[in-house]
Parts: sequence; structure tokens; C-alpha cells
Amino acid sequence: MHTPDLNLARKRTNNSVETINFCFNSDLRGIAKDKKYCLKTYGCQMNEHDSENIKALLEEMGFKESSTMTGADLIILNTCSIRENAHNKAFGMLGRIKKIKESNKDLIVGIMGCMAQEEVVVNEIMNKYKWVSFVLGTHNINELPNTIFNLLKNNKLTIEVYSKEGEIVEGLPSVRNNKYKAFVNIMYGCDKFCTYCIVPYTRGKQRSRKKEDIINEVIDLKNKGYKEVTLLGQNVNAYGKDLNINYTMSDLLQDVANTGIDRVRFMTSHPWDFTDEMIDVIANNPNVMPHIHLPVQSGSDKVLKMMGRRYTKDEYIALVKKLREKIPNLSLTTDIIVGFPTETLEDFNMTLDLVKEINYDLAYTFIFSKRVGTPAYNMKDETSLEEKNRRLQELNYYINSAANLKNKDYVGKKVKVLIEGFSEKDKSKLMGYTETNKLVNVTGDKDNIGKIVDVKITDYKTWSLDGKIV
Ligand code: SAH
Ligand code: SF4
Ligand code: F3S
Repeated sequence: MHTPDLNLARKRTNNSVETINFCFNSDLRGIAKDKKYCLKTYGCQMNEHDSENIKALLEEMGFKESSTMTGADLIILNTCSIRENAHNKAFGMLGRIKKIKESNKDLIVGIMGCMAQEEVVVNEIMNKYKWVSFVLGTHNINELPNTIFNLLKNNKLTIEVYSKEGEIVEGLPSVRNNKYKAFVNIMYGCDKFCTYCIVPYTRGKQRSRKKEDIINEVIDLKNKGYKEVTLLGQNVNAYGKDLNINYTMSDLLQDVANTGIDRVRFMTSHPWDFTDEMIDVIANNPNVMPHIHLPVQSGSDKVLKMMGRRYTKDEYIALVKKLREKIPNLSLTTDIIVGFPTETLEDFNMTLDLVKEINYDLAYTFIFSKRVGTPAYNMKDETSLEEKNRRLQELNYYINSAANLKNKDYVGKKVKVLIEGFSEKDKSKLMGYTETNKLVNVTGDKDNIGKIVDVKITDYKTWSLDGKIV
């Protein structure tokens, strides 16, 4: 049994990272062929992609997917720690699962994802949720088949969470959620240690995958008919910095573009590592999509400094200006935290000014949430929750107005849309995304699913566009 250790999770060394090649234990193939699993995923794309691996591992063992928890023999929560409400959601779900477990003693219940890496969470599970079957961390998803095999024999709480810096596991199978768009991890972990953020503790040291592994994965996806890849990492611009080779994110982006796959996206970009070379690669390659998610977090230099973001408001604005000059049709999205400790009304107004100046296509806005073990946990925080909520509402008002106006601009224009399937709200319509990552509900023939087609935009809403195939 290995339990998480916050002090170890904080440590960074220069030790080189090991790459492990995963091989499915053939003795376990099909052993659960009469059983069903239900997997619930919270958090970011990183977790969504991990869930694609988890699914594939379970299905190789023979498990079939169950859409309901009550019909399942195995329930796994792939959890997120980023804010307190993510925590509460997972613990709330555990409350519901407890009732199911009471009437089905053989039910296996597993906690995976970022919460599994948290010392406080695992202590709480050991004390109050002893009926949970296993906790498995983000560094060792590859151990899932063996963990479940052991539990099928002997249903006793197993905790296998490593707080070491982490390895790279290549060759994990994947059952992808989408037939046309795929996530491709280019790096794991994060070394930025922004003072509010728990990710460097839950995901470990920054570890870049080898360029050959990434490019081969993209070529393979392209050969299988995928039209789009999103290169994933907490801070993709820092790709390669840990490999000590003369090969950076701009080189990787160019090589991925050279595979000829129709669409290349990447996220998330930290403003700190955004190089001119990278901007040129985006501008010069029509298959690198003109959308950048560039979290700013705050418009106050004082707050940015306390957050450990290492850029000023002016530097951020200068970067955006450069991006917009070189990539004229750029769509720009961001993340913003309100109510960071010591944020005054004046600081907050600076964030409003920045938002008004930049005119984002979209922004994800959050109230600061204290995370155990992060430096901001102990910072003096005197603003009331009521005031923080008020600030969030005011910020969202400007964000939404800008998003609305940006979308209005599209009406009458012809844009390229990758049609993914039927619209969720209206099954008579199709849906897909523009190059600038705008959701479009499309009128047209279903034969267009899986194709990139020209769409004329006929109407707009704050979060989506309407259009018809031309
Ligand atoms: N790696 C990405 C962000 C990943 S987390 C980056 O650096 O840009 C996604 C977003 O969650 C962050 O951009 C931030 O806005 C928000 N976030 C992270 N920790 C938070 C916290 N403790 N409280 C509130 N929001 C937080
Ligand atoms: Fe968190 Fe900062 Fe790393 Fe993003 S760059 S994951 S906000 S520590
Ligand atoms: Fe959440 Fe972990 Fe992603 S904390 S946002 S699932 S990296």
C-alpha cells in the first residue's frame, strides 16, 4: 500500500524520467466478461483523456460499459481537485454510491484522478469511506487491471498512490470518445507552481513525451480517419524544456502540422513561454487552428505577482497584440480567477479593464478556492464570499457581452466546420466546431458527419452559432 505524501509531491529533482512501455497482462484478458463498469469523469481534458485509457483497460479485461451506476459491478470516479466544488461533487457522488453498495456488497468502487493524489482526501477515505475498494493515482493508471484482478479475489481497500515525480507510460490502449477528434498528450505534470494551483502536486513533475512517440500517434490517428488532434499539456509551450534537447514546442507544432492532419489544436498555453517562433508556426500553417487559450488569471500586476504567474498585465497585452497582428482571424479565450487573497476592488477593476481591452471570444471565470498544500492556502483572504460573487457576476457580464458581439460578427460569413454528429439539443440538426473553435448547430445532410464542410452562419447566440451547409 502506498499513500500520497504532500511533501514528496512538492519535490522536484533533476533526475531523468523513465519511460515505461505498457503491455497488457494477457492472463487478465476477458476475466471480467460478465461484468459491467460505470466510469464518471470530472475535471479537464487531461482527465477526459485518462478516462479513455481507463475504459480501454477495463474493456480489455472484458468489462462492458453501463450507463447507470445501479447496473454496474464496478464504479470508478475519475476525480478533479482544482476547486472545492469539484471535491464536493465527488464526495457527494460517494454518498450516493454508498447506498448502492449497501444493497450490493460485491460492488467494487474506485477513486482515481487528481483527488487520489491528495493526502487529505486519502486520509478522509481511510477514515470515513472504508467501504471504498481502491484508490489509484494519476501516475499509475497502468496498474488498474492488476488492482481490479486482486480485488475480484479479495475485496479489501487498496491504495496505490505514488507521490514521486512520475514516469511516462507509453502504449496504454485508448477507447476514444470521438471518432474525428483526438487528444494527444505531449507532456505530463507541471513545474510552474502558480501559488493557487494544486496541479503540480497531483500530476507531478513536467515530463515531455518523446517527439517520435507524439508524431507517430498523430500519424496513426490520421490513418484511422481522425481529422483533428489537440495536443495536451498543462503548459504546452514549455514542451521539451525538460528533455535537454534542442527541440521546442514550435518544432513539435511544425512537425505535427507536417503530418498533414486536417486540424491541429493545442492547450493550455502559459503566456510565459509563448515564443515568436511558435506564433510564426501558427500563422504559417493553415492546419494549425487559429484559436489560443491563454489564461490571464488577473489584470492586476500585484495579484499576478502573488499568483506567481511571472508576467505583467502589459506583457500579456503586448503578447496578445503580437498574436493578433500575425494571426488575423485569431480567436482568444482565457481563464480568470476573482477574489484571490488580497484582491482589492481596485485590483478587480484592473481585471475588468483588461477584459474590456482584450475582448475575449470566451472566458472561464472562477472564484478563488483554497487548496491544501498550496502557498495561497495560507495567504490572508479578507474579502467576503458575497463580494467575490458580486465580482464574478460583474466580470461575467462583460465576458458574456464580448462573447455575444464576437459571435454576432460571424452572421453572414462562410466558415469551415468539422461536423461531428447530431446536435444534442435538436436531433434534426448537426453540430461541429469552426476553425476558431466556435460551436455551430448546422442544418444539412447527415452524410456530412466526419467531414469538414463550408457552413454559412445564419444566426448567433452567446455560446453558439447557427448555420447551414452550403
Ligand atoms: N495549466 C493551465 C490551467 C489549468 S487549471 C494554465 O496554467 O493556464 C484551469 C484553471 O483553473 C486555471 O487557469 C485557473 O483559472 C483555475 N484555477 C486553478 N486553481 C484554482 C483555484 N485554486 N481556485 C480557483 N480557480 C483555480
Ligand atoms: Fe496550475 Fe500554473 Fe501549472 Fe497551470 S501553469 S497547471 S495554473 S501551476
Ligand atoms: Fe482537475 Fe487534475 Fe485537471 S485537478 S483540472 S483533473 S489536472
